[in-house]
Amino acid sequence: MASIPHENGRGSANAHGRRLRCAVVGVGRMGQHHARVYRNLPGCELVGVVDASPGRRDEIAAKFETRALDHVGRLLDLGVDAVSVAVPTTFHAEAAGPLLERGVACLIEKPLAGTAEEAEAIKRIADRSGAVLMVGHIERYNPIMRALRKEQATGVPIVPRFIEVHRVSPMTFRSVDVSVVLDMMIHDLDVVLMLMGGHEPEEIQASGVPVITEHEDFCNARLTFRRPEPYGVCVANITASRLALKTERVTRITGENAYVKIDYAAKSGTVIRRMANELQMREVREQLRRGIDLTSLKWSELVNIENLQIDDGEPIVKEIEAFLDAVRTGARPEIDARAGLVNVRTAERIIAAARKEWKDYRLTEGWQRQLMGAWESGEGE
Ligand SMILES: NC(=O)c1ccc[n+]([C@@H]2O[C@H](COP(=O)([O-])OP(=O)(O)OC[C@H]3O[C@@H](n4cnc5c(N)ncnc54)[C@H](O)[C@@H]3O)[C@@H](O)[C@H]2O)c1
Repeated sequence: MASIPHENGRGSANAHGRRLRCAVVGVGRMGQHHARVYRNLPGCELVGVVDASPGRRDEIAAKFETRALDHVGRLLDLGVDAVSVAVPTTFHAEAAGPLLERGVACLIEKPLAGTAEEAEAIKRIADRSGAVLMVGHIERYNPIMRALRKEQATGVPIVPRFIEVHRVSPMTFRSVDVSVVLDMMIHDLDVVLMLMGGHEPEEIQASGVPVITEHEDFCNARLTFRRPEPYGVCVANITASRLALKTERVTRITGENAYVKIDYAAKSGTVIRRMANELQMREVREQLRRGIDLTSLKWSELVNIENLQIDDGEPIVKEIEAFLDAVRTGARPEIDARAGLVNVRTAERIIAAARKEWKDYRLTEGWQRQLMGAWESGEGE
């Protein structure tokens, strides 16, 4: 695929190349941020915003001084290099298809599609035309995840054996057209599959409960990965809920060489390395062997805890910069169509595993009446 030369100065062509002509399709809650970033990034021109809602496209176009367009086809007439697709997931294929077919680079919001079949169809179009396709799994660009990856690139590999994830928040009544697995858990599936080198889980067990919507509003999944040596087995236990009374986005990784805790919301992360603690641990083991009472020791004071070094780059800016870098160089983006597809395929397997049990406990009205009757008559516990 032809590469587009890099350029430095904001808004004008220079010796290094020309401005990238950028646009956004779907300027709702997420898309408005893409429009803001393209409007402000050096070397970009926001050619226009497309939205099915006339009021919304006019509002965002006025705010970012660009054209309000009613159809993706208008972008093709104007000529664009790079487009963010941030329409609701069910319309990703319809919105991105014509652009990818014409070789236009697309950054498609997560998840790549609502089904693995649709994700595969989108991937096929991009493969055929050679268009750059990146999926917006933004958590990879969270400062805490960037810090962890930087650290991993230089330190001893963690070699994860067990990953525990909690992503819970109160119901926002957004994205209720899809399961919590595709709405929230997909962020963690991307990170877990990345940590597993893109390998898909061999086994999946899941429980999911629909409460407010027709889909799982709560889901827990246990994924077992079996990777070739030297990595071996890793289990990931992932919980996502949009019914919680608090917000929490925490991942704990227990590995061969380190324990890592990352808190996306608090933008903090700690690492406890085996090597940095080897001496103390050897001493403790020896004392236990000799039967010495260590109950007065404080574990948290004994271990050497390192804080991850966090910068304050905005995740969506970092994500779009990575996308535009791929557009300029023609290189394959890190979160490519395959990564987006395996994330959706894993989500689909989790939903199928959870729903296998639904027939037994689906909260039908009849079942609820029976339950309430039993409760009122004192039979229920
Ligand atoms: N990366 C993240 O953290 C994150 C967070 C939220 C949502 N998302 C993803 O972003 C996408 C959009 O979600 P949202 O919450 O911004 O939705 P939204 O409903 O706020 O915005 C969608 C916009 O698309 C427009 N639209 C709908 N169908 C269209 C079509 N066929 N053509 C053109 N415009 C159309 C709507 O009018 C609306 O303005 C979804 O795929 C969602 O999963 C990602």
